[in-house]
Amino acid sequence: MSYFRITGGIPLRGEVEVGGSKNAALPIMAASILADEPVRLRRVPWLTDTTTLAEVLQRLGMRVARQGDGSLELATVDAQPVRAPYELVRRMRASFCVLGPLLARRGRAVVSLPGGCNLGDRPVNLHLKGLAALGAQFRLHRGYIVARAALLRGTTVDLRGPQGPTVTGTANVLSAAVLAEGETTINGAACEPEIVQLGEFFVGLGARIEGLGTSTVRVEGVRRLHGGEYTIAGDRIEAATLLLAAAITRGSATVRGVVPSHLSAVVDVLRRAGCGVETADGVITLVAAGRMRALDVTAQPYPGIPTDVQAQLTALATVATGRSTIRDHVFPHRFIHVAEMKRLGARISLRNGAAVVDGVPQLAGAPVTACDLRASAALVIAGLAAEGQTTVREIHHLDRGYERLDEKLQGLGAEIERVHASGAFRHHAK
Ligand code: EPU
Repeated sequence: MSYFRITGGIPLRGEVEVGGSKNAALPIMAASILADEPVRLRRVPWLTDTTTLAEVLQRLGMRVARQGDGSLELATVDAQPVRAPYELVRRMRASFCVLGPLLARRGRAVVSLPGGCNLGDRPVNLHLKGLAALGAQFRLHRGYIVARAALLRGTTVDLRGPQGPTVTGTANVLSAAVLAEGETTINGAACEPEIVQLGEFFVGLGARIEGLGTSTVRVEGVRRLHGGEYTIAGDRIEAATLLLAAAITRGSATVRGVVPSHLSAVVDVLRRAGCGVETADGVITLVAAGRMRALDVTAQPYPGIPTDVQAQLTALATVATGRSTIRDHVFPHRFIHVAEMKRLGARISLRNGAAVVDGVPQLAGAPVTACDLRASAALVIAGLAAEGQTTVREIHHLDRGYERLDEKLQGLGAEIERVHASGAFRHHAK
């Protein structure tokens, strides 16, 4: 099992390019099931989650071929299989995104019900409610959702849950609606850039969709989708993670390959904390001088602060001046990183569903263990700021959603090494 060894305290400096968005790539890869002809996706990040989904799609009769230029070509070679097995869905719950496409294109689906995870219970009731409104029928059989739809018919569905819209639920319902008969109106649709990209991908294949990026999306069903190409936008969560790494080390960084408007809420928080942040076409530059000011932030659905950046912002707050308050309205219990951060000397308590953080002048390096994807990134960031050596174990969590994060941080001057049980080596960037 590999782990990271970090020597903290070095201000990061330099330029770094982000990869394509994981959370845009996953539903778009799954949606390729709907196309009658091959699709080619550019800038798909090659990380554990995308390779797991590629495996799921291969089991579902898709050819998934990574081309020399890094693009991914997907095509149906056998439209019979409809089963997404537990051993794969268990590894990555976003595999559930195949449900809507399978129902719409193949009329049947047998998809393992994702279990709970470190972010909490994570139900899929809204996915099922939306697909049922379009005409799908479901039963649960030995841990699997067994779904049928002889015909999907357009209707009006409301996908708002107690925590707001659902991102992959919107993806599943949108995927079914593009081939449904007649018009579907999705109220309470997720406005995340990843859903906008899924919609743009569909439009490129011949779908008719209006209202992308708003909470009301209208879809006029078409009989078929043809093939095409789509380029995934830069990963806004990876970009935010790298900017926060520069901020916590009181350094500077230019992050390229992003859409700055996707990060407006994060940029606002960083400015309020005392960073200088400039944006230009595809580029964000951050300069941090001295200690940050305390943060008062609440993670919200887009365009709010992403829940996927909440743990990394908590890391920044641990060394800010004064008392910060961090809440998460999307996953209210997503504070699994707090206990490990305390091992680095952070002063955090959980009160009334918020992390209350009293900033300390300096964290001290220690061994810590990662427990989920974004929590791992937050521990790495904290380790970059901590004095002395930090080791971060269980980094398979991090590798699910970050492509070569260690190499990108090395490129910014960080002392971070991936150590394998058999010894240590440094990956070479590029
Ligand atoms: N919810 C329900 N019922 C449902 C679905 C969701 O009550 O049927 C609740 C959830 O429990 C949560 C809220 O609605 O409180 C929002 O969950 P959502 O469905 O939007 O989450 P998701 O689609 O499962 C995606 C991302 C997550 C990201 C969330 C929120 C992908 C593959 N995953 O998950 O990304 O945190 O949206 O933005 O897009 C990550 O990349 O680390 C990650 C966890």
